[in-house]
Amino acid sequence: MRLDKYISNATDLSRSQAKRAIKHSLVTIDERIIRDPALKVAANQTVAIEGATIQHAENRYFMLNKPAGVVSVSKDRLHTTALQLVYEHRAEALQIAGRLDIDSTGLLLITDDGGWNHRLTSPRSNCAKLYRVGLMNAIGADYPAVLADGVQLEGEKHRCLPATMQQIDSHHLSLQIAEGKYHQVKRMFAALGNHVVSLHRTQIGAILLDPDLEPGDYRPLTCAEVASIQ
Ligand code: URA
Repeated sequence: MRLDKYISNATDLSRSQAKRAIKHSLVTIDERIIRDPALKVAANQTVAIEGATIQHAENRYFMLNKPAGVVSVSKDRLHTTALQLVYEHRAEALQIAGRLDIDSTGLLLITDDGGWNHRLTSPRSNCAKLYRVGLMNAIGADYPAVLADGVQLEGEKHRCLPATMQQIDSHHLSLQIAEGKYHQVKRMFAALGNHVVSLHRTQIGAILLDPDLEPGDYRPLTCAEVASIQ
C-alpha cells in the first residue's frame, strides 16, 4: 500500500496531512526517512511518525440487521443511512457490500475492504443469498418450476440464474438466488404476476444473520465469516 494511504488508514491524519508529514521528513520506514508519499509499504515493514511506530489497522467487517426505512447508501439527505447505524472510528472508510432496498430488512454486510466487497458483489461471484419473502397474492403451484428454470426479468437480455424456493405458508417463502441484480427479488415476483410486500435477507454465502441482533444492531464478523468470502 502507498505510504500516504497506509498512514491515513492507520491514524487520524487525512491523506493530505500524511503527505505533508512525509514531505517534512517526519516519517520513517524501518528507521529510514522517506520523502516519497507514493512509496509502497510492505507488510513486514515498520512505519513511524516522529519516532512513534504506527500500527496498520486491520480491515474491518460487520453485519448489520438493517431495519426498514434505512437506506443502503453512504450519504442521504432525507433518510438514515446504514452507515450511520455503525458507530465506529473512521466510519467514513466503511462501505456497504450488497445493498438492500429501503423497505427491505435483514443482513447487510459492511466493510472497509474494497477487494472483499468486490469479491462478494461482483456479478461473477454468484454468491448465494437467502431471503424470506412475503407476497401479496398466494404462491402459485408453478413457482418452484418457473424459478428453477430462470425467470425472465423485464428489461434484461438474459434470464435469471436458476433459483430455489421453499414454501412457508400460502403467502410466504424462502428464496435462494445467486445474483444481485437491481431490485431482483421484487422484479422476479413481478414477472410472475405477484407483488413482494416484505423482504428480509437472512444469509449471504455462508454468513447467516445473527439471531441475537435486533433491528438496527450490528456486530463484527468472525474470522471464519470473513474468510468464507473467497
Ligand atoms: N431484491 C430486491 O428486490 N430488493 C432487495 O432489497 C434485495 C433483493
